[in-house]
Amino acid sequence: MTSDRHNFLQRIWYSIFPGTRRDRVDREHYRQFFNGLLLHFRPRVVPERTLRFTLSWGLGGMAVVLVSLLFLTGLMLKFTYQPVPDRAYESIVRMQNVVYFGQLIRNIHHWSGNALLLVVFLHFLRVFFSGAFHSGRQFNWILGLVMLLLILASNFTGYLLPWDQLAFWAVTICTGMLEYIPGIGVGLQKFIRGGTDIGPATLSIFYAIHTAIIPAGLIILMPFHFWRVRKARGLVIPRKPDDDPQDRGASVATIPNLIVRELVVASALVAVMLLFSILFNAPLEAKANPGLSPNPTKAPWYFSGLQELLLHFHPLFAVLVIPAVILGLLFILPYLRYDADTAGVWFVSDQGRKAAVIAAVIAAILTPLGIVADEYVISYATWLPSVPPGISNGILPATLILAGILGFYWWIKKKYCSINNEAILAVFVLLLTAFVILTITGIWFRGVGMKLGWGW
Ligand code: HEM
Ligand code: HEM
Repeated sequence: MTSDRHNFLQRIWYSIFPGTRRDRVDREHYRQFFNGLLLHFRPRVVPERTLRFTLSWGLGGMAVVLVSLLFLTGLMLKFTYQPVPDRAYESIVRMQNVVYFGQLIRNIHHWSGNALLLVVFLHFLRVFFSGAFHSGRQFNWILGLVMLLLILASNFTGYLLPWDQLAFWAVTICTGMLEYIPGIGVGLQKFIRGGTDIGPATLSIFYAIHTAIIPAGLIILMPFHFWRVRKARGLVIPRKPDDDPQDRGASVATIPNLIVRELVVASALVAVMLLFSILFNAPLEAKANPGLSPNPTKAPWYFSGLQELLLHFHPLFAVLVIPAVILGLLFILPYLRYDADTAGVWFVSDQGRKAAVIAAVIAAILTPLGIVADEYVISYATWLPSVPPGISNGILPATLILAGILGFYWWIKKKYCSINNEAILAVFVLLLTAFVILTITGIWFRGVGMKLGWGW
């Protein structure tokens, strides 16, 4: 309460910033009010062990901060960006050269979008490796996967908006991949492009998806995700394999223990993003020219693994069968039958850790070998001239690889694992390592004509 002791200006000031009152009783009243507000969203106490930085690495919170930065800067960009091919590129150039802080706002948006993908991917890995997808958290895993797909789609639709050569041709080849889906592929491509080619309709469709549909999806799913964390009684409790899973340890007050940690991570992240955006400008090439394709034409970095697959397999397998199988497996992962509930134990057990390292080493040797062999040695056209490519370059290698993965599962389970959780972890690490190597090859080791070589 402001009293007669305060003058007119002070009364206005304190009505806006009640926390600055010198009166101790007033300040305490304000503090309680503010804490009460916060505790509408957060639990009053949290298990002390979940506060360890090495459990969550602050990654979920970082994703929230980056999404907030993207919404804030995205809304600002909307004031100057014009989503029509004749003016989009020019509006970006104007934003960078004329609008106050335009370049900085664009940089923050660009780098936050890319950082978000990385952070959410790492969050997905931490959730998997700490076993936080078992009973009670299964559906939150599904919600997370849907958000991961939304973030991918958001980065991809945003990629086209600057309408420069990079944007135009990356989106051309990525949407071009859809053609290979049998039956619906061509129709789907036409639907997404708004016609046969990338043009004004594509830009408005991408703009609407980017600035309305996906943000709406995130605004709905994010609170749902947090509510599920709350329903599962907070984060998974980290423990050693022999610890009692029922022992939740001591609890501590959320304010200040959790809130201060979150504020530190959030402030550090905002500072890093700001510094990075001051130092490095978002790329902008020449204006899109539909008649002149750059060589090589590369997909955005997060689709490089997919583009790399396309160089080795029949397109139907590279674009549809392999990604669909992997995605399908990820969606059913929390609902598989496990021998034990290992929630909270990093890498399942000591044996699981060992199996994971073996899987990583095998994939790190075989994937580059496979890439090089396919580039220089294997030639289906000469070896199997009469076999249709869908079989020689599709069904045949895919079946061999599948047999190899099943054989690996059987071997590692027999030799190194006592429960199936460890063998499933090993297969996950095998595929993850192969995926990372394919992505790195696509980004850095593909040059002119997509030939192997230094191609950055
Ligand atoms: C925009 C994307 C995402 C945001 C903003 C987000 C945010 C969060 C936050 C703040 C937490 C609690 C703190 C933490 O664990 O760091 C959390 C937990 C969780 N997230 Fe996400 N997440 C996202 C994507 C994902 C993805 C891709 C997955 C997995 C497929 C996932 C699965 C989970 C699960 C299972 C938990 C509970 C973890 C536990 O109990 O220890 N989330 N998420
Ligand atoms: C998860 C959220 C989002 C992600 C990952 C994301 C990502 C991106 C990316 C990568 C670009 C291309 C930046 C460039 O290189 O120039 C972009 C552009 C753009 N985004 Fe977003 N964005 C998100 C949310 C939003 C929101 C909520 C809005 C507005 C409501 C928005 C509005 C824009 C606009 C107007 C552009 C064109 C300007 C430009 O390209 O610099 N974005 N976005």
